[in-house]
Amino acid sequence: MKALVLAGGRGTRLRPLTNTSAKQLFPVANKPVLFYGLEAIRDAGIVEVGIVVGDTGAEVRAAVGDGSRFGLRVTYLPQEAPLGLAHCVLIAREFLGDDDFVMYLGDNFLVGGIQELVAAFDPAAYSAQILLTPVDDPRSYGVAELGRSGQIVGLAEKPDDPASDLAIVGVYMFTPAVHEAVRAISPSARGELEITDAVQWLINHGHHVHSHLITGYWKDTGRVRDMLECNRIVLESIETRLAGTVDDRTEIVGRVVLEAGAVVENSVIRGPVVIGPDTKIIGSYLGPFTSIGAGCTLEDAEIEYSIVMNSSAVRGVARIEASLIGKGVEVVPARRAPNTHQLVLGDHSTVRLRG
Ligand code: TTP
Repeated sequence: MKALVLAGGRGTRLRPLTNTSAKQLFPVANKPVLFYGLEAIRDAGIVEVGIVVGDTGAEVRAAVGDGSRFGLRVTYLPQEAPLGLAHCVLIAREFLGDDDFVMYLGDNFLVGGIQELVAAFDPAAYSAQILLTPVDDPRSYGVAELGRSGQIVGLAEKPDDPASDLAIVGVYMFTPAVHEAVRAISPSARGELEITDAVQWLINHGHHVHSHLITGYWKDTGRVRDMLECNRIVLESIETRLAGTVDDRTEIVGRVVLEAGAVVENSVIRGPVVIGPDTKIIGSYLGPFTSIGAGCTLEDAEIEYSIVMNSSAVRGVARIEASLIGKGVEVVPARRAPNTHQLVLGDHSTVRLRG
């Protein structure tokens, strides 16, 4: 069994952060979301991993390397353009050979791992397995329609009129039968080779596709609100670890991780919160479900339910909430007069200012 991890793509829904960075490396509780997936693959006993990369390939390679720190052997598979999930299978043909494989979307987060799913996969009984989970608004997902006995009768990618509330989770299992399917299908209206079409092709050609309803937590972290939610879920289970320095004017309530070299002075921190190495928190309030990366400075600031990536600074600003702040960002007050907002924003940025 091999794994194919998809870490290319456009990431339009997370612009402008994805203009310069790989979304699969965005931190969840200060660890790249991709790393959780790689660990789940390793824990399922898989060693050979192909990672599909696009424009941000150099950053992914720098972060993951040869995979040995995860106990994996990683092969990089450059994709010339984001031509779809099934296109990733097409370009991985040589790497995959005639092995069964797990396809794991690099920006997906699954609590509970994939150990049982991999162990239960029976290539003699079915050609593919998809995971399903009920969601509130199926229109932004791949959606499955099940027949009376639970068999899959149809799949649709982001349908306007969903046949069920069962979204397809970004972890698939395939036998080599999928290679014929990805060669046979044509690009969809949005110009991508859709994996839903490949699975539908298998069904139409008499292959059995098994579906498995998951009950554990799953998130596609492709949007800001999903990143923040995923961060919240992971922070829910952290244990307090204070390796940095906290002065006696600081009040810490709840579970907080403070990495080595981090300094907290005259502040209030209400966990769960993680604070990366060499970050300074001075005269500030950090509220629940907040992750602050490495080498950041928060001074006279208030922030809650947010993610701040490495080397960013927030000074003299109250209060920031439900925000995703990239690397090397500065958020500071404007000069008193004239009374204006002063903005330097990248393409496709979002700023919501309070009146
Ligand atoms: P998506 O999130 O469905 O697509 P995207 O990354 O283009 O994002 P957006 O819709 O916001 O523009 O992709 C799921 C995962 O698969 C993600 O980790 C990126 C990866 N991917 C590829 O590696 N190659 C591709 O051609 C596509 C479409 C996605």
